[in-house]
Amino acid sequence: MTTAELEKTVQQLTAPGKGILAADESTGTIEMRFKAVNVPCTEQTRRAYREMLFTTPGLGDYISGVILFEETLKQTNAAGVAFPQLLTGQGIVPGIKVDKGTVALPGFPGEKVTQGLDGLAERLAEYRKSGARFAKWRAVLAIGAGMPSAAGIDANAHALARYAAICQDQDLVPIVEPEVLMDGDHDIATCARVTENVLHAVFHALHRQRVALEFMLLKPNMVIAGSACPKQATPEEVAAATLSRLRRTVPPAVPGIYFLSGGQSEAVATTNLNAMNASAVKRPWILSFSYGRALQAPALDAWRGEAANQVAAQQALAKRARLNAAAREGRYTAAMEQGRRVNVGDEPVGDKS
Ligand code: 13P
Repeated sequence: MTTAELEKTVQQLTAPGKGILAADESTGTIEMRFKAVNVPCTEQTRRAYREMLFTTPGLGDYISGVILFEETLKQTNAAGVAFPQLLTGQGIVPGIKVDKGTVALPGFPGEKVTQGLDGLAERLAEYRKSGARFAKWRAVLAIGAGMPSAAGIDANAHALARYAAICQDQDLVPIVEPEVLMDGDHDIATCARVTENVLHAVFHALHRQRVALEFMLLKPNMVIAGSACPKQATPEEVAAATLSRLRRTVPPAVPGIYFLSGGQSEAVATTNLNAMNASAVKRPWILSFSYGRALQAPALDAWRGEAANQVAAQQALAKRARLNAAAREGRYTAAMEQGRRVNVGDEPVGDKS
């Protein structure tokens, strides 16, 4: 492990006013997203879509890192520049999703565990050669009758901690992502209890695997009510519940907490992040975003596989990146959503506070 390397990457990723773009959808997931807007899913369309995202003018003003899928790490733009180099040229650190997805946890119907530890060190060495400087591993925990079980929580925490230790050994900063899913009709109190249990187990496992907390980032869910719960929480309630559980479980040595959006709408994900950063509750870490859908959805909807839509799609991505960057500092307002469309890179109208 080279502490200086890890420290430099953490510093770059946690640059003030910026967040992380998760563009690491596996082939199956991006196929689902493309299908919703009638775009065929081929290596070429995936490449063209990612090129559109990564060449957004001014993206590096709001985005410090991009998480890539393995296929994308090896792809190039139309001019033949590899995507990691393209991003580095924008002042953005390239990262890589390294888990191999989830499988059923035997004996625990409905629960899953993430796989991908075998041969991970060798894969990381290769990814590093391709330009990756940080990594991501996602554990998935569903809420339901008797779920998640203690065994499910421990199995996922153990895998996350083993992954993080291997990353640091290979000079990649691990993003540790334990996602408590928002699917279901559970209330916010249930999500709070489960999230606290999960984070407690994750940090216990990280400690046991001797992971240096200073050189990792946490990517958790926000504490929210289930998507089918009739009583949705206000942003202030989400902020209070999330901060309370994070304060109980995440040591101050962790430099940053970069939330996933998890299926929240774009505006809700931004509003909730803003409420946390506007809160008077004391917290020792940076609170920012590492969104997939909540950054990309409007851009994909504008793009629809047509080169002619590139400018509109890039404007849509730049807008969400800019608004979330404002939320990272607690200075986002709903009025900013209305700002008239401007050229990418221009000073936004109605977006100053
Ligand atoms: P969402 O923000 O769409 O939840 O994606 C984040 C992510 O990286 C999931 O692993």
